[in-house]
Amino acid sequence: MERKVGIIGAGISGLLACKYALAKGYQPLVFESRNTIGGVWTKTLETTKLQTPKSFFQFSDFPWPSFVDTLYPSQTQVFDYLQSYAKHFDLLKHIRFNTNVLNIKYHKGPSHEENNPPHWGGDHNGDPFGNKGKWIITTQHLLTQIIEVTQVDFVVLCLGRFSDVANIPEFPIDQGPEVFEGKVMHSIEYSNLDNEKARELIKGKRVTVVGFKKTVLDIAMECATVNGVKYPCTMICRTPHWNVYQSIPWANMFLNRFSEFLIHKPGDGPLLNFLATLLSPLRWGIGKYVENDIKKKHSLKKIGMVPNHSFLQAMNSCLVVTAPEGFYDNVDKGSIILKRSPTFTFHKEGVLLCDDSDYGTTKPIKSDLVIFATGFKGDQKLKDIFASTNFQKCFSSSSNETTPLYRECIHPRIPQLAVIGFSESFANLFASEIRCRWLFELLDGKFKLPNIQEMEKDVLIWKKSMKTFSPKYYGRPCIGALHIWYNDRLCKD
Ligand SMILES: Cc1cc2nc3c(=O)[nH]c(=O)nc-3n(C[C@H](O)[C@H](O)[C@H](O)COP(=O)(O)OP(=O)(O)OC[C@H]3O[C@@H](n4cnc5c(N)ncnc54)[C@H](O)[C@@H]3O)c2cc1C
Ligand SMILES: NC(=O)c1ccc[n+]([C@@H]2O[C@H](COP(=O)([O-])OP(=O)(O)OC[C@H]3O[C@@H](n4cnc5c(N)ncnc54)[C@H](OP(=O)(O)O)[C@@H]3O)[C@@H](O)[C@H]2O)c1
Repeated sequence: MERKVGIIGAGISGLLACKYALAKGYQPLVFESRNTIGGVWTKTLETTKLQTPKSFFQFSDFPWPSFVDTLYPSQTQVFDYLQSYAKHFDLLKHIRFNTNVLNIKYHKGPSHEENNPPHWGGDHNGDPFGNKGKWIITTQHLLTQIIEVTQVDFVVLCLGRFSDVANIPEFPIDQGPEVFEGKVMHSIEYSNLDNEKARELIKGKRVTVVGFKKTVLDIAMECATVNGVKYPCTMICRTPHWNVYQSIPWANMFLNRFSEFLIHKPGDGPLLNFLATLLSPLRWGIGKYVENDIKKKHSLKKIGMVPNHSFLQAMNSCLVVTAPEGFYDNVDKGSIILKRSPTFTFHKEGVLLCDDSDYGTTKPIKSDLVIFATGFKGDQKLKDIFASTNFQKCFSSSSNETTPLYRECIHPRIPQLAVIGFSESFANLFASEIRCRWLFELLDGKFKLPNIQEMEKDVLIWKKSMKTFSPKYYGRPCIGALHIWYNDRLCKD
């Protein structure tokens, strides 16, 4: 009998899961709360472009059309490309749009021992369907409000880590947005605005933006373009990061087998470990060379934005983002004002920095509009999809903990379920595709998973490595340091 695979989300990861499920003869049922495919690419800021070269952000069996001749396509070009992919592989008929999954619930199969919580592989034999359980997916149609339940044999969670649930800073009572007389929004709300409306919103306003990663850089650039130096955009930065222009050729030095050879990898024997130790000064030297180059090119010292963590650590945690061209020129001109502060509070006229460094000020930064570009709570979204608190507890919502996924896909204690697209890479489309291929080979019986204890041991070893590569940011699920090595492991499986 054809087994049913419930896929939640029709962004890049969900489309890939659907395509590979079909290729292996499964019946995919894709649930998508939006009215279209594409996930984050459905609507972004007007100026959003790929920050990964398109050759890395390409389906293995569906190249970019030749008329897209730029290296970094725009949001509309990415969206059109995803639409063409879905049409080409006839995926749309498997997607239930406007259908929000409220929760998923596991029904144990008959082979499961009564007193044990359900987990992967039934009798520990690594068979993905060994438990013979079912997942019950409860959905609500967002137009008709009709609630339905659907039973499937396997679930693939493709919920997205950088969408839907905003990470909003918390404030002491009477020091939050409630005391501010201007407008406050999260970048999700701003990105969802029609482009013309977004321009109108910021035009002639004193805009303060919070964050120092990709979204905030793009928003600040949009403000600088609309308002210039007359109404400079103030950016509140908690942690300086290595934000670089695409034109800096740093990536080539890190994203290759030789650079990974210089790292201690889980499972390496004594010889490889010895060589990695012997060559570690080389890796350190390359990192310092790149840091000095970036510091000089962007005058980071002058603007007080030299990060405390090394460039290598940033690479290892996928923290290096591309600044829009012209960003640092706008800082120089004064259309963007950078303020460093570990925390801040609201005042009726704007925001107050709570800073003990030289960059601080006790006067409020007068603002009409404050935009939090403070990221997303993807981990919370993942946790909340489970009806059972036991399964919810499998995922920590602390940013100091990595998500414990074997091969970044499987939670050893949650049976008949995989997570795709959660752990980041430099090229997330490629990462989701190779994981989907791995997953459906597993379901097809090409290989078996090790037992739970071995999977958990593997997860712990990986976690330890992440801590070594990037002590401060190891909680951010990412394969940055070893993405080739990691993909090799999937291929070997
Ligand atoms: C603005 C932006 C630009 C980016 N640029 C790049 C880039 O240049 N390079 C790169 O490698 N990565 C980039 N990323 C990372 C990006 O997240 C991935 O590239 C990729 O698009 C993620 O796809 P996904 O399918 O995993 O998740 P998403 O695109 O987030 O899709 C998740 C889907 O699941 C649906 N969903 C969630 N919960 C439910 C539910 N309960 N019920 C039903 N449906 C649900 C959502 O509606 C959504 O459609 C960018 C991210 C953002 C936000
Ligand atoms: N292709 C593109 O053009 C594009 C565009 C936008 C986004 N993206 C991608 O989308 C993903 C999300 O990016 P993002 O920039 O939205 O989110 P993000 O990477 O999670 O960054 C959030 C920023 O907000 C700061 N922050 C969080 N909480 C804060 C608080 N309480 N007070 C002050 N600052 C706080 C963080 O500081 P700390 O560093 O101190 O935590 C960080 O600078 C990334 O993978 C990014 O690369 C890509």
